[in-house]
Amino acid sequence: MLQSLSRLRHDVQDALFPPAPKLRVLTVFVTNVCNAKCAHCFYWTNLNTPTDMLSQEEYAKIAANTPDLGHLVFSGGEPTLAKNLVEVAELFITKPHQTIDMPTNGIKTDNILALVRRLVSRFPQNTITVGVSMDGLEETHDRVRGVPGNFKRCLKTIAGLTELRKEFPNLRVTTLSCIIRENAEELTRLLRFIDETTDVDYVTVEPLREQKMDQTLLAPTVDQVRMVHDLAMEINFARLKRMRPHEATIILSSLEELYSVQQNFFGTGELAVRCQAGSVSAVLEPNGDVRCCELRGITESVRNYDFSIPKLLATAKAEQERVEILAGKCACTHCINIGQSIRFERKTALERVWRQKYMAWRMFHSPAA
Ligand SMILES: C[S@@+](CC[C@H](N)C(=O)[O-])C[C@H]1O[C@@H](n2cnc3c(N)ncnc32)[C@H](O)[C@@H]1O
Ligand code: SF4
Ligand code: SF4
Repeated sequence: MLQSLSRLRHDVQDALFPPAPKLRVLTVFVTNVCNAKCAHCFYWTNLNTPTDMLSQEEYAKIAANTPDLGHLVFSGGEPTLAKNLVEVAELFITKPHQTIDMPTNGIKTDNILALVRRLVSRFPQNTITVGVSMDGLEETHDRVRGVPGNFKRCLKTIAGLTELRKEFPNLRVTTLSCIIRENAEELTRLLRFIDETTDVDYVTVEPLREQKMDQTLLAPTVDQVRMVHDLAMEINFARLKRMRPHEATIILSSLEELYSVQQNFFGTGELAVRCQAGSVSAVLEPNGDVRCCELRGITESVRNYDFSIPKLLATAKAEQERVEILAGKCACTHCINIGQSIRFERKTALERVWRQKYMAWRMFHSPAA
């Protein structure tokens, strides 16, 4: 009943103020190669399979046809194993307001540091956030990731990145931790450990989604999600004080909004925002396949649409995919798609302004870290 009322409200709202979604975020899976075997990986069926990779010329055509991107995510596979990552970034990043996010498994420290150095020096005007994935303390992390020694390498990578940040103020260093039922309690110890022993800008956490290699892994309970979120936010409030207030309040309020939607989802099974995947965000696979969301079916190959993602997303097939997504045919708490969807929900626009003001007040009136 409540869900129907909420949908009705959305429909009336759409009728009065038709949404004008625009592609703002592109996740580029630059490679499907990976040197880990994570039990929770949603991308596992694609990893290390033969792929007809896009050439640099093909990427150039795609980039020329997708202007106005605000945010680019380089993922995969392990994105730092892609030899052409900086060259691909050069095609898409043409304006200073554009931001880049890149998660990494942190394994090949020297390779990662060399690549990030090239990225941050090539785009000094753009904020580049590198997130090192850490899913537990040493024994758990190495087991979940299937790589002995991975935990120690992550710490080395984080130390190298935070050192690099001294030279390049456009670099942000974070950690990404997947909340699984079996590691949730340990994550609180991991986050405290990260807080005490590293100099990351902030930490992020993401509840396990359904698609995963090891089907025995369980999603966290709502209490576990809340517990880990609360600690992450406590750490971030103290850490982000060091950042420019404007940037810090945007990060804090975005994380808080996302975490509140995630907690609600794990508590009630309902997604409080409509996912706008395929409208404001899309995914480009290494072989040119484009999906509205990487957790759903492949839409089409951009090779068949003159290398134009907007053209591909304008087809009836893609429109059908969007209709299903907007209608709630699938539901999850994917940090990028749901995080972006919150930003584009008109009903939350005013709330966001107040939330940011409140965050700024809270951050600068709380005791020093
Ligand atoms: C797919 S990986 C790609 C980048 C890189 N290989 C890494 O592991 O950081 C991106 C992020 O997605 C997370 N992830 C993978 N499968 C997930 C799932 N089923 N639920 C939630 N997060 C997941 C990983 O832990 C990682 O932080
Ligand atoms: S989560 Fe990242 S590191 Fe782990 S298997 Fe998937 S792509 Fe590789
Ligand atoms: S709700 Fe989840 S699975 Fe569905 S399109 Fe959005 S991000 Fe993808």
